[in-house]
Amino acid sequence: MLPQTEHPVRKIVKKINQPSQKKEKEEYVRDVFDAIAKPYDLMNGLMSFGMHKYWRWYAVRQLGIFPGAQVLDCCTGTAFFAKSSARLAGAKGRVVGFDFSAGMLKYARQKKNNKPNTSPIFLQQANALYIPYKPAVFDFVTVGWGIRNLSDIDQGLREVHRVLKPGGKFACLDLGRPVNPIYARLFYFFFFYVVPQIGKLVANHYEAYSYLPHSLATFPKQAELQSRLQQAGFEKVHYINLAGGATALHLGEKPESLCKNTA
Ligand SMILES: C[S@@+](CC[C@H](N)C(=O)[O-])C[C@H]1O[C@@H](n2cnc3c(N)ncnc32)[C@H](O)[C@@H]1O
Repeated sequence: MLPQTEHPVRKIVKKINQPSQKKEKEEYVRDVFDAIAKPYDLMNGLMSFGMHKYWRWYAVRQLGIFPGAQVLDCCTGTAFFAKSSARLAGAKGRVVGFDFSAGMLKYARQKKNNKPNTSPIFLQQANALYIPYKPAVFDFVTVGWGIRNLSDIDQGLREVHRVLKPGGKFACLDLGRPVNPIYARLFYFFFFYVVPQIGKLVANHYEAYSYLPHSLATFPKQAELQSRLQQAGFEKVHYINLAGGATALHLGEKPESLCKNTA
């Protein structure tokens, strides 16, 4: 059970998650990520006990990214996911990452992609609800811990579907709900009480790291997100629980047969 506290940040999250508050949610989320862009990578490492890099790497391996592939990373943040894809897509591939936070993109741009035989990574500022690409251009789309932050998850999923080529594959990594109830209690304690304190100490931002756990309260559980992907038009949708379900990887494909209707 998630805590039903009337924490001030929970009140904000409840408010901005109402359908009439889409603009407010976008502005709030963008401000949060602009504010924590600098310590973002360090905090990610601390909160996931260093596992976040492995989860992204696992996700791109599950997708089967091939040399020469065209890959889009939505809500790219500091471009970790994009870098993992670039290794698999190789020198002949192309990886594009976008995010609406200028702060996060600043740190993404500072990362050097100097491993041999990796794709160039193109970064741009854009909103995931209006992806600025033509239909059916990407072989693969990834999104890491971004879907939960969208003011309209279904529109975001439809946009991913639109820009995928028929037969293209989608991987979505995000927070999940732990399966084991005892582990769940420990996880929620860590997430709701310890993470904001680490955020305060390391990132000097208690509110941003309170937003993170509270954003989970209104986010669909694994099975519900699976059906939302299906509703958006994906097939072969399934999910893999990581870290006992505290993180979940959802995978889906754009059907080949829909190419004329959806491309
Ligand atoms: C938790 S971070 C994840 C960053 C990165 N994907 C990763 O794996 O570390 C969420 C990112 O989503 C971005 N974001 C949230 N809503 C967005 C939107 N509507 N359009 C574009 N980016 C968005 C935020 O700016 C932030 O950089």
